[in-house]
Amino acid sequence: MSDDKVVTDIITLTRYVLDEQRKYKEASGDLSLLLNIIQLGCKFVSANDPNGIKLCVTFKFKGISCLNFNTRRTGLAAGTQNISGDDQKKLDIISNEIFINALRSSGKVSVMVSEENDEAIIVEEGLKGKYCVVFDPLDGSSNIDAGVNVGTIFGIYRVQEGSSGDISDVLRPGREMVVAGYCMYGSSANMIKIPSRGKIYSVNEGNSKYWDEACTEYFQSLKSPPEGKSPYSARYIGSMVADVHRTLLYGGLFAYPSDKKSKNGKLRLLYECFPMAFLVEQAGGKATTGTTRVLDVVPEEIHSRCPIFLGSKDDVDDVEKLYKKLA
Ligand code: AHG
Ligand code: MN
Ligand code: MN
Ligand code: MN
Repeated sequence: MSDDKVVTDIITLTRYVLDEQRKYKEASGDLSLLLNIIQLGCKFVSANDPNGIKLCVTFKFKGISCLNFNTRRTGLAAGTQNISGDDQKKLDIISNEIFINALRSSGKVSVMVSEENDEAIIVEEGLKGKYCVVFDPLDGSSNIDAGVNVGTIFGIYRVQEGSSGDISDVLRPGREMVVAGYCMYGSSANMIKIPSRGKIYSVNEGNSKYWDEACTEYFQSLKSPPEGKSPYSARYIGSMVADVHRTLLYGGLFAYPSDKKSKNGKLRLLYECFPMAFLVEQAGGKATTGTTRVLDVVPEEIHSRCPIFLGSKDDVDDVEKLYKKLA
């Protein structure tokens, strides 16, 4: 018997992807299969995550698709560090293996870059495919024990004409990605367009001592606006996926700026900044380093970082104006 409170005709990610695929007669179905594999990876990760799971993916030039699952739990220290110096959790490692194994065996991928692997992974001949996948298997892992939302971030490039699939296929500007997305484990939401201006800023203020002048002045202006204007609220979770997710929904600005200690900020281009910048632009927002569009940056190496301010268009415009003025 059907309960009219339960939606039974759901636009799942698979359904969305298949609908899109049907629009292109020449489509081979390879990208659809690859997205299904990433989705499967997310389901496996969710089976080991304490929270539920919400999958939100956006496609270049297309809308945003959401899919819900539910599941259960883990989050212990592995006792190791990755190349960025992050302490790895067991779930970082498990999630990473899940994605690598699933993507390699798909036969659709030639190159993989993961936050948890020092080097790019080049898939062996015979299993190579026409895509490259860059990913952060588990974003926000320092938050797992606190039961805070964590997620998976990914971006997909096509292997370039004439290349047999090597590192040069991923050392490319983010605007050349064909798909980017994230899956957030826990909570729920629907998203469409980011508001053109928000009332929330999201940054690790513990680093403010090291900020440059433009950054300091910008955040100060949000906290002490001119007479008649209300100050912004601060919200900072410390999981990029969750902070960007909230920014997409409510508007405002998320930042991980450069500072005197970390001259390129903390977040990594290929699997953190690019996919999120891509998604935010698709939703009508902007992402800048302060002086340059994030998607125009060319990574020097696979774990390169870049400063990032992303979110509502008008808020990001304000950041850029200040960087210009104080240049
Ligand atoms: P990851 O868990 O994948 O290493 O990413 C952590 C990142 C990102 O999720 C978040 O925005 C940022 O680190 C938080 O850094 P701080 O603790 O320095 O604020
Ligand atoms: Mn990490
Ligand atoms: Mn991350
Ligand atoms: Mn991570």
